[in-house]
Amino acid sequence: MKDFNDKVAYITGGSSGIGLATAKALSTEGAHVIIFARKKDRLEHALEEIKSKRISSSSSQRFSCMTMDVSNWDEVQEVMSRAVAQFGVPDVLINCAGRAYPRVFEEINYEQFDETMKINFHGIWHTTSVLVPYMKERGGYIVNVSSIAGFIGLFGYTDYSASKFAIIGFSEALRSELKRYGITVSVLCPPDTDTPGFHEENKTKPEETKAISGSAKLMQPDEVARALLSGMRKEERHIIPSFDGKLIFLLKRLLPGLVEFVMDSTVKKVQAKRGEK
Ligand SMILES: NC(=O)c1ccc[n+]([C@@H]2O[C@H](COP(=O)([O-])OP(=O)(O)OC[C@H]3O[C@@H](n4cnc5c(N)ncnc54)[C@H](OP(=O)(O)O)[C@@H]3O)[C@@H](O)[C@H]2O)c1
Repeated sequence: MKDFNDKVAYITGGSSGIGLATAKALSTEGAHVIIFARKKDRLEHALEEIKSKRISSSSSQRFSCMTMDVSNWDEVQEVMSRAVAQFGVPDVLINCAGRAYPRVFEEINYEQFDETMKINFHGIWHTTSVLVPYMKERGGYIVNVSSIAGFIGLFGYTDYSASKFAIIGFSEALRSELKRYGITVSVLCPPDTDTPGFHEENKTKPEETKAISGSAKLMQPDEVARALLSGMRKEERHIIPSFDGKLIFLLKRLLPGLVEFVMDSTVKKVQAKRGEK
C-alpha cells in the first residue's frame, strides 16, 4: 500500500501510545480513521488529537471511535459489524491493543496468563475473523502488533512472549492464505517505546528484564508510527522500527547461542548483585 489517502483504517488500541501515534500519522496522510478501545473518555480525547492532524484542506475525512474489549468475542462481532455498516469495510486494519505485566513465571497466576493471551492474541484473532470475510472482496492491509519479545523469549515475559510469539506464527500463516485475495499481512515488532503502557509495565518489571533492555534506545511512539507506515509502503513482513531490534532479529536467527549467552550473563550479574547464586 503506497498511498493511505481516502483509505478506511480501523485501529484497535488507537486511544493511546503506538496505536494513537499510528492513528495520527494516518490522519495526516488523509485516511478515514476509526479507533477502538475500552475506555470511552480516553477514546474521545484521542479522537480530538487525531482529527487535529487531518489534511487541512480535507473536510471529507471521517473519524470515529467505538468502545470495544478485543478479548470479548461476542462484543467484537457486534461492534465490528456495526463499524462496517457505518464506516465501510476497512482497507487497513491495525491490531494494536495489548498490554504487559512483566513478572517471573512463578509469580504469574492463571488469571494473568489467561488475560494476557485473551487480550494480546485472541483479540487479534477476534477482529481478524470478523473482518477478513469483508476485506476479501477488495483486498487491504492487516498489521498485527507483536514485539521484540515476539521473536526472542525474554526474562520476565513468559506470558507476554508466548502471546507475542503466537501473533507472529498466526500472521505468517495468515499472510500465506490471504495473499490470493490481495490482502497483505505484516507484523510490527516495536522495541521499548515511551508510551503510557510502557510506564505501567515498568511498575512490575524485574531488575533482570530492565538490565537486558537497559542500553537500548527508548523510541517515541511517533517514530514507531513513521516506521510502520514506511514498512507498509514496502510491504515488509516483519516491520522492526529500531536498529537494535533489526540486529537482534538477525542474530537470533543466525547465532541464537550468542544471544542467549549475552542475556544469561546480564541476568547473572543482576542476581549476583543481590547476593544470589
Ligand atoms: N510500548 C512498548 O514498549 C511496546 C513494545 C513492544 C510492543 N508493544 C505493543 O504495542 C501495543 C501498544 O502498546 P502501547 O505501549 O502503545 O500501550 P498503551 O499506551 O497502554 O495503549 C494500549 C491501547 O490498547 C487498548 N487496550 C488495552 N486492552 C484492550 C482491550 N482488552 N480491548 C481493547 N483495547 C484495549 C488501550 O485502551 P483501553 O485501556 O481503554 O482499552 C490503549 O488504547 C501493544 O500490543 C504492546 O504489547 C509495546
